[in-house]
Amino acid sequence: MGAAAWARPLSVSFLLLLLPLPGMPAGSWDPAGYLLYCPCMGKASQALCSDGETEAGRGKATPQMRPETPSQLHVSYQKYFKLEPLQAYHRVISLEDFMEKLAPTHWPPEKRVAYCFEVAAQRSPDKKTCPMKEGNPFGPFWDQFHVSFNKSELFTGISFSASYREQWSQRFSPKEHPVLALPGAPAQFPVLEEHRPLQKYMVWSDEMVKTGEAQIHAHLVRPYVGIHLRIGSDWKNACAMLKDGTAGSHFMASPQCVGYSRSTAAPLTMTMCLPDLKEIQRAVKLWVRSLDAQSVYVATDSESYVPELQQLFKGKVKVVSLKPEVAQVDLYILGQADHFIGNCVSSFTAFVKRERDLQGRPSSFFGMDRPPKLRDEF
Ligand SMILES: *[C@@H]1O[C@H](CO)[C@@H](O)[C@H](O)[C@H]1NC(C)=O
Repeated sequence: MGAAAWARPLSVSFLLLLLPLPGMPAGSWDPAGYLLYCPCMGKASQALCSDGETEAGRGKATPQMRPETPSQLHVSYQKYFKLEPLQAYHRVISLEDFMEKLAPTHWPPEKRVAYCFEVAAQRSPDKKTCPMKEGNPFGPFWDQFHVSFNKSELFTGISFSASYREQWSQRFSPKEHPVLALPGAPAQFPVLEEHRPLQKYMVWSDEMVKTGEAQIHAHLVRPYVGIHLRIGSDWKNACAMLKDGTAGSHFMASPQCVGYSRSTAAPLTMTMCLPDLKEIQRAVKLWVRSLDAQSVYVATDSESYVPELQQLFKGKVKVVSLKPEVAQVDLYILGQADHFIGNCVSSFTAFVKRERDLQGRPSSFFGMDRPPKLRDEF
């Protein structure tokens, strides 16, 4: 297998290069090296943690999903998604397997090096230590695998994008740096337009399909409209940056609706970022009418507005919000809806939108009923 290749957009040749070595037994060491990280992003993004936003030529130990409560911190990727389809995209093993089968020989405690940007290490007392285990969930995440870091390697002037591929392999050759442990995902945020089709490698686990389908069957009548309300207090603060001009059209996941090109991006309005009840009612009414929908599913980070929406349809449309313990259930139900209305700025919405685009299901955004077609149609 060739040198480490980082953050390179998918291409056919690369995909072939990434196929596992024939005859390489499961659990054997991959000389191209490994990449480990805590998928410690925003709560709502937990399901996005390893959706292949970047690609690494290194085999990658899949990060764990970060669940809601610390007591169940250790939730495996495989609980929600199938590992095999991801393996078709690049070499990947679960972090559990990596720690159990490979770490004892290839990543012993004294060789556990942390890698981070110089600026990240500036926060440490000696200004030379990567903040791998600082705070929650970072500390508990590594602790559950009994991992501590023996030293830090700092870097600067390099980024997690395709154009730095060569620099990465020169700076950190897999031979001398077989395991790159990073404080966070080596991904560009938000998902780049050319990386959107990578969503196809994220396939729900059989268990998730069963759970999700059972909920749909029990609570919803088709056709149903699924909506994602991202309106909580943290979000209000974020959207305030739009109001005061700190943020522009490209704000978090917004390229998915304003367009990926900065020069031609449509304006991002406050209604798109933080729809009020009036806008929510308007959009839901529009799509319920146009589909003759029988029910509405509400996934929310706070308020669900179920009574208000029920009243809007005078009880003729069933309005349901399950507020499931695991956000993946919401993601699944929204993905299966006959129409989906999301929040353009949210990466939780972006996950649903990418999955639906892939399956040819229609979506729109609050404040924007007919989003422009993106360059990549797949
Ligand atoms: C790193 O490993 C060496 C060798 O085992 C040990 O002497 C040293 O104390 C370790 N340093 C840290 C910070 O754990």
